Amino acid sequence: MNKPRVVLGVCGGIAAYKACELLRRFTESGHDVQVVPTASALRFVGEPTWAALSGHRVSSEVWESVHEVPHVRIGQAADLVVVAPATADLLARAAHGLADDLLTNTLLTARCPVIFAPAMHTEMWEHPATRENVATLRRRGAFVIEPAVGRLTGADTGRGRLPEPGAVFDACRRVLARGPRALEPDLAGRHVVISAGGTREPLDPVRYLGNRSSGKQGYALARTALARGAGVTLVAANTELPDPAGAEVVRVGTAEELREAVVKAAAGADAVVMAAAVADFRPAGRAQGKIKKREGVDPEAVALVRNPDILAELSVRRATPGQVVAGFAAETDDVLANGRAKLVRKGCDLLVVNEVGDGLAFGTDGNEAVILEAGGAETRVPYGPKEELADRVWDTIVRTLESRGDQQPAGG
Ligand code: PMT
Repeated sequence: MNKPRVVLGVCGGIAAYKACELLRRFTESGHDVQVVPTASALRFVGEPTWAALSGHRVSSEVWESVHEVPHVRIGQAADLVVVAPATADLLARAAHGLADDLLTNTLLTARCPVIFAPAMHTEMWEHPATRENVATLRRRGAFVIEPAVGRLTGADTGRGRLPEPGAVFDACRRVLARGPRALEPDLAGRHVVISAGGTREPLDPVRYLGNRSSGKQGYALARTALARGAGVTLVAANTELPDPAGAEVVRVGTAEELREAVVKAAAGADAVVMAAAVADFRPAGRAQGKIKKREGVDPEAVALVRNPDILAELSVRRATPGQVVAGFAAETDDVLANGRAKLVRKGCDLLVVNEVGDGLAFGTDGNEAVILEAGGAETRVPYGPKEELADRVWDTIVRTLESRGDQQPAGG
């Protein structure tokens, strides 16, 4: 398979060093990256670093290897151009169509999506000249990522910081996977609730019945929903992952706590996605003290009682008109047949069926699944990062919300 071809433009700002990390992420995830630094960028990070990390010759000039016509070829061959950091100067030159170095020539010849990740001091970012240049670039179809707020070059803080390489990489990955519309905030104004992780049902103060869920799939759903503009409540059961920036995170332990938190949050939500692995049963009682091992005495059988079926309850009692309710099905055998039956039993709008088992789905960074819709449609999502599957789930939910003619977000 051909590797996606990415041009990484780097401008002369202190954040140029962060572009090394971005480059690393691209190459390690199977992208072919041509770095095109400006002359100023090379004052911050030298040519050998870019060449070593990318495995390609690097130049900022149009006068090198002229026989290969690099000022046209690099842009024409690219699947994506990302400029990170993009300085005020580069944004101005790009907005005015200048072509005075290899990077601006590349921007003029690229026919693929172009992403700018600006980094500069707050005054420069807020200057009317920069505002107009950014507006011009956006009007022409480029994606200009909002700079982050935080520590700038010196002791000062404010808006203008380059977003973390992971966030820039994520935006690039989404555009490469889903095309130029990928960064449109199609969940803007929507509120979504996601459950993640695995519940733990206590036997005594030190033991519990639990499962292997890490929360990674649910957190990927939260991060992608945030990136698409949604307000997110993440109900997290026993996870150790960092809170996704911008999400309201509610921490729970047991299935009953998870039910209470999800039902409460669902009251004003446009969509609920149950990615958590919820225990179907819990011990009938919880011992006050640690259950003792007694010599010569066999352990008592643990009596179990049923936990509430939260997904089925949410599906019956839609908290808002048009609310979309989605679940995940973790299956070990007859995966699709069991998934189809579960969709009917639970009464939800869509069910994401994934096979679980040794090295499958639980705790992994990647996943594959089939998205089953109540109307009968089935979409296979091949193995890829959990964010990939999450984006496909949101695609389906956005389409379902729109098909219900519910253009009004639940909060609106
Ligand atoms: O967290 P990771 O390590 O990334 O792993 C991801 C995952 C495998 C946990 C995830 O992709 C997944 O499959 N989640 C659902 C796990 C599960 O509980 O499946 P189930 O087939 O037992 O339940 C079906 C649906 O009903 C699920 O949406 C579940 O949240 C819901 N349910 C289950 C039992 C219950 N009492 N109440 C529920 O609402």
